[in-house]
Amino acid sequence: MSGGEDRLEELRGLVRDHDRRYYRDASPIISDREYDLIKREMEDLEAELDPLGLFKAEDSPDLIGFPVPAVGDDRLEEFVSHRHLVPMLSLDNTYDQKEFFDFDQRLRKLFDRSELPYVVEPKIDGVAVSITYEGGILKTAVTRGNGVEGDVITQNLMHVDSLPHDLTSFELPEILEIRGEIYMNHEEFVRLNELRERDGLPLYANPRNLAAGTVKLLDPKEAATRKLEIVLYGMGACIPESHFPSQSAFHEAIRKWSLPTVEFLRSASSANEAWQAILELDELRHGYGYPTDGAVIKLDPIEMQRQAGATAKAPRWAIAYKFESERQETVLEDIVLQVGRTGTVTPVACLRPVQLAGTTVSRASLHNADEIARKDIRVGDFVVVEKAGEIIPQVVEVVAAKRQTDSTPYLFPSSCPVCARGLEREDGEAAWRCPNPECPEQVKGRLKYFASRGCMDIDHLGEAVIEQLVDLGKAKRISDLYTLGKEDFLALDGFAEKSAENLFNSIVSSKNKGLARLLCALGIKHVGSSAAKELARNYESLAFLAEATAEDLVEIDGIGAIMAESVVEFFASHENRLIIEGLSSAGVETSREPTEPGSSPLAGTVFVLTGSLESLTRNQAAERIESLGAKVSSSVSAKTDYLVAGPGAGSKLAKAESLGVEVLDEEAFLAFLGNQ
Ligand code: IVH
Repeated sequence: MSGGEDRLEELRGLVRDHDRRYYRDASPIISDREYDLIKREMEDLEAELDPLGLFKAEDSPDLIGFPVPAVGDDRLEEFVSHRHLVPMLSLDNTYDQKEFFDFDQRLRKLFDRSELPYVVEPKIDGVAVSITYEGGILKTAVTRGNGVEGDVITQNLMHVDSLPHDLTSFELPEILEIRGEIYMNHEEFVRLNELRERDGLPLYANPRNLAAGTVKLLDPKEAATRKLEIVLYGMGACIPESHFPSQSAFHEAIRKWSLPTVEFLRSASSANEAWQAILELDELRHGYGYPTDGAVIKLDPIEMQRQAGATAKAPRWAIAYKFESERQETVLEDIVLQVGRTGTVTPVACLRPVQLAGTTVSRASLHNADEIARKDIRVGDFVVVEKAGEIIPQVVEVVAAKRQTDSTPYLFPSSCPVCARGLEREDGEAAWRCPNPECPEQVKGRLKYFASRGCMDIDHLGEAVIEQLVDLGKAKRISDLYTLGKEDFLALDGFAEKSAENLFNSIVSSKNKGLARLLCALGIKHVGSSAAKELARNYESLAFLAEATAEDLVEIDGIGAIMAESVVEFFASHENRLIIEGLSSAGVETSREPTEPGSSPLAGTVFVLTGSLESLTRNQAAERIESLGAKVSSSVSAKTDYLVAGPGAGSKLAKAESLGVEVLDEEAFLAFLGNQ
């Protein structure tokens, strides 16, 4: 292989990796700008080495007459697929004024005209969606997927207030696919990240990722608790085809129908006028409710768009001009390693403080050792930092010209900076881990998590107290908290009689926080608060859960194979068994709180729902059941009292019948509720 081919393979690997992070995992680790650069280098090299495209990395199966566009793929197995009537393409993009004018020149040549009519719109930096109205009624909302087929996410957008379900009072074409972007406003992003922090879950880096994670939630009820917004800008399929003569006519119509759309749309009769509109947009865009990262310039007449056509990836009639996000140069003063409660080691850049997009930035995540090596980041370097809608600033690149002559490559430490144990890394994992469960930093992390608001919610047990308890050797395990007396707290900095008593009392009162909180607080890998609730709903006590096999656990809705393995592994550990014994013997309630008999009409009754119901959703049914004091479980067992089965019921119905569980159809179920 030549050097060029090696590099091409490397670039293809990088693009694949970053596509997966961006589209499937919704957690990219490089900025759009960096991604665009890598992708462009790959495409240029491909054009040079393989001008006929014979050895393209991705084979593009010809699914329905056109090749799968090169737009990544966000589809997940758990979702129903939907085929777009018109594929969702990507856009060619540029950061360069000249390339914008080259685009115009290509089109002018094609049409043999000296000036062309364009529209200029904001490029919204959200999550692409295609909304279909049939006969004026909203039928589906679908993600881009692989461009040809996407995931149906209608159920997760039901609560987006600005998205009308019924437009029959207007004259819509029979079928209309409308393209848009889903986004989350900054306030909602901050609110949700605060809740995640409270629950000890990893934070989303930016609103876009959180919006992408929300549209892909498996539980629409959870999606309904997060505020999503939508903005529509474009047309996919339209039947009859001739309904809209131009992009501007389409905009006019969606505005008339009160669909949420962009407030900036400039018609331009030449590339020069369009350029002026692009500059104007850059001035105005920060005042819009949605994030924007550029302008999209489109030929206005639909007939001209049709004539210009598209490549497999992008239309020839449109281009995105991307605005530069704010960047600053500063000095990387140090790289420190943070050890998380599970032992994950994250390198963090300590920066000479610099003003960026309105805040002072002094730290930035460096993600992992591979990222540092790839960018060859060294202590003492001048680096460029960027905050492109990212809450956590990114180190984009090193300013090579300013590097000190005596600088040396950064050597990622081979041992934990806290306990000195050798770091380990599993095959295929990017992160190094400290394997020592007794590492004081991990112990502190576990205790902080245990005491946090989303877990045991122990008042007065803050970070500073935990640090001291661990440093003084008074707490090595979470169960040790319950062995401490007032005198132990009096020995800590800042404590007096009253504060020691308060802390003691709140630890004591945390003994009865319920099984779900306790399960969450144990910090089992992959088990957050919703999974903990699900486990507590299905198992009466820690002792019962400890006996569960992975096969038992995957039966539970919302518990996948990875989580099930992790639960089994947690209880198999000798150390964890000691913790649980310690908690039990200290009097921490490790069973589900008994339901008080007689307190509510159906207390203690267990329902399972399966199949679909007509007059109410499964979530609404579950709410009605729970409001009567009964429980809804996700799997049928001997403890199930009633199975509510609608059309489409499968294995749960068979199991219920074999166990002699009473089965209610929708009518019988509604009658049952009515009688309570
Ligand atoms: S036009 C075939 N217009 O950006 C037409 N796209 O990076 C292609 N986007 O796939 C889309 N704002 O998801 C268009 N005003 C706008 C847009 C826009 C955001 C998204 C869209 C597109 C992606 C390309």
